[in-house]
Amino acid sequence: MLSKTMEEALNEQINAEFYSSYMYLSMSSYFEAVGLSGCAIWMQAQAQEEWFHGTKIYHYVLGRGGRVILKAIAQPQSGWDSTLSAFENVLTHEQKVTGLINELVNLALDERDHATNIFLQWFVSEQVEEEATVGDVLNKLKLIGGDASGLFVLDQELGQRIFTPPVQAK
Ligand code: FEO
Repeated sequence: MLSKTMEEALNEQINAEFYSSYMYLSMSSYFEAVGLSGCAIWMQAQAQEEWFHGTKIYHYVLGRGGRVILKAIAQPQSGWDSTLSAFENVLTHEQKVTGLINELVNLALDERDHATNIFLQWFVSEQVEEEATVGDVLNKLKLIGGDASGLFVLDQELGQRIFTPPVQAK
């Protein structure tokens, strides 16, 4: 059985993951509007991944006999100054989410909730991967600078991304 504190903290994280999904969907619509359909596809996949994260926690809370309370999802930003600034926003957002996951792990350890600690380890690893992936895109964008043909090639590369949910999780 989850403690009330842990249950509430996991409910907050469900909201944070769904907000992330909403934010990346907003970025996807921004990229559609500026004609970068590959970046839009990349953000769509990112949004699906975040939705998966939220539902993964949702199922975990229910599986531990907890109560899921869905809260309002805040309105995300709708425009960015450039492709670079949008992807910089992805990185700062993911760094913030990493901090939230680390706080959850700290709480699980404080409460000696070993099951939740083990559950959260998947998210710890996922955050390392997410930060590395967006860091890679940012490095390429910095190399490209103002070169439109370079951006066109990167846009095509990013458009190859497909989200496939991991099989082991609900
Ligand atoms: Fe669910 Fe990108 O963290």
